[in-house]
Amino acid sequence: MAMSFSTQVLRCDPTSITFPPSSSPQISSPETLRALETAAHDLVSRHQVVVFPTETVYGLGAAALVPAAVARIFSTKGRPSDNPLILHVSSRAMLQSLLPPDYAIPHTYTTLMDAFWPGALTLLFPADPSRIPAAVTAGRPTVAVRMPSHPVARALITFADTPLAAPSANSSGKPSPTRAEHVQRDLDGKVALILDGGPCAIGLESTVVDGLQPDGALRVLRPGGITVEDIERVLADEAAGDGDARVPRVLVHRRDYSDEEMEQAPTTPGMKYRHYSPSVPVVLLMTSTPPPAEQAPVGFADVLDSLRHLRRDSASPLKVGVLAPSDSRLNDSLSAAAVEWRVFALGTRSDPAISAARLFDGLLTLEKEGVDAILIEEIEEEREGLAYMNRVRKAAGETRWLHLYNVA
Ligand code: TXA
Ligand code: MG
Repeated sequence: MAMSFSTQVLRCDPTSITFPPSSSPQISSPETLRALETAAHDLVSRHQVVVFPTETVYGLGAAALVPAAVARIFSTKGRPSDNPLILHVSSRAMLQSLLPPDYAIPHTYTTLMDAFWPGALTLLFPADPSRIPAAVTAGRPTVAVRMPSHPVARALITFADTPLAAPSANSSGKPSPTRAEHVQRDLDGKVALILDGGPCAIGLESTVVDGLQPDGALRVLRPGGITVEDIERVLADEAAGDGDARVPRVLVHRRDYSDEEMEQAPTTPGMKYRHYSPSVPVVLLMTSTPPPAEQAPVGFADVLDSLRHLRRDSASPLKVGVLAPSDSRLNDSLSAAAVEWRVFALGTRSDPAISAARLFDGLLTLEKEGVDAILIEEIEEEREGLAYMNRVRKAAGETRWLHLYNVA
């Protein structure tokens, strides 16, 4: 039975938090300190869920080692119980306390943690079922762990003094929230407390990496905030420093390998369940990539015509939301009669980090503005563009290939 709350939002100022080496976090803002103490108390003593900011997206946290607390994550989100959770730690010692006592962390992982922790990289480790509730791992032999860099997240985990299990703080199937107000709109009354630490800098979720396979390759199960290019660079630098010619390979799921079993088991978002979808239809516009053989490119007018039946309010024009790079030529086409355009600009085509940071905010903002449909333009699948396109493909119900430079 889901509980009902009057949701409280408490402001936290990330700039008021500092982490002196080998002592507890120092918090100069009394308001932030009180908010963190309240949240830690809710988590540890009351086994409640608490929404907190991370550098990727907002998380819905619970004390990870308490099965009843973890169960509340699933009921609050309406999350299928076979979708495992990421554990968030604030120190290497906390990570170690989760792992099987005889387990030695592989060198590749140490290299990646040195480079990217705290930060948007999640690693799979062997799960010790005597420590980690089965609900966290969904009964799998591995557990996903990351150390977030957001000061509010790090301080909260330190205050709670226990790892926090935290999925993105959205109802299952919805875009991930990157601002406290996104969470408020979605989960109002379903959570007691939201810590508002401002907008998330990265704006989409962490990169999930499995380095436990016997071939020694790293498998990117979910591209995310840490780019594949950055991971490859760090591994190459490390190998060069060691005078070792063997650099572990980095394989991206669906790009470099496929895994039938994984696609059935929802070990990574969007494989089995609906993901990232606002309540209005989303169409992905391919404007640079040529269409597959069986698909004919269409004109922009055809795309618009296919949307006209979606108009919900017959007294006003079709309202179309557009998410496209700020320097896209698509913007020149948005003058069609009888359409009200709502443009949410992404970064320029050469700056995928900004597009990634704005994607979920754009989907949620356009949904709030009551558009009838959302058009999203593709960006190049490089650097943050890889994670961007991964999310967009899952959000979109339909893909159209456009003759962009041939508008009717
Ligand atoms: O950036 C993030 O990772 C955010 C913030 C809050 O930290 N969290 C997040 O959690 O995105 P969530 O639950 O929305 O996505 C985590 C994904 C899950 O969909 C799950 O499939 C995958 O990570 N995952 C978790 N444990 C796994 C495991 N043992 N094996 C494979 N995949 C796993
Ligand atoms: Mg999620």
